[in-house]
Formats: sequence, structure tokens, C-alpha cells
Amino acid sequence: MPDARIAVHPEARIDRIEPELHGHFSEHLGRCVYDGIWHDETVDGEGFREDVVGLLEDLDLPVLRWPGGCFADDYHWEDGVGEDRPRRRNLFWAQGREEVPEEPNSFGTHEFLELCERIDTEPYLALNVGSGDPQEAADWVEYCTYGGDTALADRRRENGREDPFDVPYWGIGNENWGCGGQMSPEQYAREYRRFATYVGTMDHLMADQEFDLIACGFEDHEWNRRFMEEVSESAWGAEFPLDHLTLHHYYGRTMSVVETEDDETFDRFLVEALEMDEHIERIAAAINASATTRDIGVIIDEWGAWHTESVAETGLEQPGTVVDALSAAAVLDIFNHHADVMTMGNIAQTVNVLQCLVETEGDDAWARPTYHVFDLYSPHQGNDAVRTSVDAPTREVENKDDDLPLVGASASLSDDGTYVTLTNLDLRGEHSVEIDVENADPDAVDAQILFGDQEHDAVVDADNAASFEPESFDVGVENDGTLTADLPPSTVVGVSIR
Ligand code: AHR
Repeated sequence: MPDARIAVHPEARIDRIEPELHGHFSEHLGRCVYDGIWHDETVDGEGFREDVVGLLEDLDLPVLRWPGGCFADDYHWEDGVGEDRPRRRNLFWAQGREEVPEEPNSFGTHEFLELCERIDTEPYLALNVGSGDPQEAADWVEYCTYGGDTALADRRRENGREDPFDVPYWGIGNENWGCGGQMSPEQYAREYRRFATYVGTMDHLMADQEFDLIACGFEDHEWNRRFMEEVSESAWGAEFPLDHLTLHHYYGRTMSVVETEDDETFDRFLVEALEMDEHIERIAAAINASATTRDIGVIIDEWGAWHTESVAETGLEQPGTVVDALSAAAVLDIFNHHADVMTMGNIAQTVNVLQCLVETEGDDAWARPTYHVFDLYSPHQGNDAVRTSVDAPTREVENKDDDLPLVGASASLSDDGTYVTLTNLDLRGEHSVEIDVENADPDAVDAQILFGDQEHDAVVDADNAASFEPESFDVGVENDGTLTADLPPSTVVGVSIR
């Protein structure tokens, strides 16, 4: 007997699922860039880690944000172009495994933008607001995107790049309420307007491309409301150049992935991940309170599991587990439910750091469980999200107002059919699910499962990585076209109905 029922409502379209909802974030932090993406001493002459680049190429990675993070507001882009690159401080993070807070600058603008071209992803550069100025920011935009005859465009050519780079996204700072300058919302709004004046007018006349400007918000939604109110107070009024407002949501900060044994802690962790839903609603409300004519999207610029193992001394590295991957699947379902307001989501961070997708050790590089979740969810990219209703058991969680829903789902439509993703967030039990998708044809149903043979606290490493890959999964089709599936504990399933 099914104990969970999911109905897909094709008539209740939410909006297009922007591929950028499956975006990523890489910072000059620990072993993300140096050792993760780039080797300073390399045999192939280019410096890229080909094994990592290969894994990223295989994933539909729509957008990549760089160079930070906190690092962005102390980064001066000119240090990272040309032949002679100065070694500088890294005020926030040590690089590599040595605890040296120094930045070699061997990976800079050209290297990052070439990486994006190789893996076919849109670049998103975060400008320095905290310790930089609008001149430096506008110069970076010109250097990258101008095709004409200025000293900066010529410098890019001298540095080996004739054609302008395509850079569709520019972020005005990072966490400017914190490491990006400790600003009040009003102060940041005034800085935002100042930077946007010089950066945001560039695409009209100079660059042969359009780009979006992105402001940093906060998990404190009163801060967002005050920022929006102040930023709208200008001669531009509601037409000021602001295309997206962001926030960062990390969860699991008090929980160890290695030492935690009690399932209640894992339940609480999953409830914290699901708090993403409320954050999206609240930041969208803060935008709507002030932006009347402009369509400003919500970006979750940094998100993912951040456990007690991730501290400065470990370079923010933590083991990659099934339960973390499960939380990513639940968050991607939430993004689909909010496809009408969300324009991007960037998990932190691509390689080795926090909830990375790829891990390296010496000459080995492998996909983490979260990598497979992104792969399984990629058919949603560009589809139309539609409403799903889920009637499933929930569990009370100590110290949390919200219960944990034990089964989750989202669905999308394309010309090829319907794609449904399902999560069993119950770490201790199987759930039988009935899915109403309007007369599914048994021959047109195809499903894959993740983590069917794994424990929720299983940790990936170079030797066992293949055991986290997807497997085909049996979904029953009843005479009336209803689908049935038995979801093992802590699993993720993707069902395609053509
Ligand atoms: O991702 C690690 C750090 O988390 C980033 O530098 C900062 O933006 C956030 O606080």
C-alpha cells in the first residue's frame, strides 16, 4: 500500500526552470582553485587539471561564479593578468593545504574565462566593492568585454585574447553586510548605485553584449527590505540597473558529518536545508515591496552543507556523504517550485571545498554523491516547472518548528515529456509512492535511482566513488496510468515519462 501520494499538475505551470538554477561557485580558498582546478606546476603547460576539467565538462554546468566569496572584496584583478603577477595576501583564506594566506595570482581572469569556455559555462565575475572602487570595477568590465580601440582592450589583446570575452553576469560585491565591508543596508545601497552607474552603463554603448548586475542580499530579510528601499531612491527610480538580488544559505553548521550518529541530528540538518524555501519567499517579498516595474530575480549565490569539519585549518574541506547529496536534491526541488522568481543558484564550492561536486587527492579526481544529484536533475534545465502536490508522512524534529516531510518531489514539462524527481528524506525507512502523472504509457517510463545501496552516512573516496553512480530503477505503471515506486531510505530518483 502506498503511504505517499504525489500528483503532478501539468495545467499549473510555474515558469521556465532557468538552467542557471544549477549553477556553481568557486573561490580562491583552500584547494578549490589551486590543486583543485589549477596546478601551478604542471606538465601539460596550461595549468588546468585535465581530470577535473573533464568531470566538469561532463556535467551540464550552466554558470560559474568567481573569484569569491569574501576573497572577491580584497581581489584586484590587474594582479591576475599578464606576465608578471605579484604574490599578494589573501586576507580571508589560506591556499592549498599549506596554511599560508598568500595568493600567487597564477590563476586569474584569462584562466578563469578560458575554463568557462572549455566547460561551456557562463562566467559570473564578482567585483570588489569592499576595498575597491567603481573605476577598478568598470576597468575590469572594459578589459574583458570591449572590442574597440582602448588601452585596456589592447592590453587584453597583448595578454593573448583578441576577441572580447563573453561575461553575462557581474556581481557588485559579496556579503557586503559582513566580509565585504560590514555595511548597513543603506550604505551598501548607496555603494551599489555608485558602482552600477559606471559598470551598468557599459553594456549600452561599449560592450557588444548585454550583462546583468547582481546585488548581495542577506539571510536577514529586514536588511533586504531596507536595501531595496534605499537602492530605489535615486534619479533612476524603479528603473535602476539591478537584475538580481542574492542571499547565501548554508546549513548544518553545528553538525559533524563524521561523528554524528543519531538520526535526529540528520533530520534537523535536512529541515535546515529545507528552510531554503522560506528564504526564497521572503527575499522575493522584499524585492516586491520596492521594485515595481523592474523584474528582479532571486539568486541563491552560495548554498549547501557546511559542517563542523569545515574550518579555516582544513581549508573548509569536509567529507562528501549521501545525506549531503540528499539535501542538495531537496534544495533543487525547492528551486523548481520557485522557478517563477528564481534566476540562479550556485552551490558552494565546485572542487574540494564545502559541498563540492568534485574531490581530488594527489593525481586522483572523482565525482562526489552531490555531483550525481546535479546530473540526475539536469533534465529539468530549461523545462517548464509545474506544481506538484505531495501527501506524505512527516516527522517531528526536536528544536525545529517545522516537521521533516519524508518524501519530496518536483516536476517539469518539455516537448519530450514529463520529468519528475523524487526524494526519500527518511533515513530509516522505505516509502511506497503513488505518482499521478496523467495516463503514463508503461513503455515510455524510464527511471534512475541514486544511493539505493548506500547508507546515508557513507563517505565517498577515490576507491569507492563508482558505487555512488546512478542505477536503473523499476517504476510500476498501473492500468489507469498511475506510477508506483518503492523508494529505499535516503534515495533520490529521476523518472522520465515521454
Ligand atoms: O564559501 C565560503 C565563504 O562563505 C565565502 O567566502 C563567503 O561569501 C561565505 O561566507
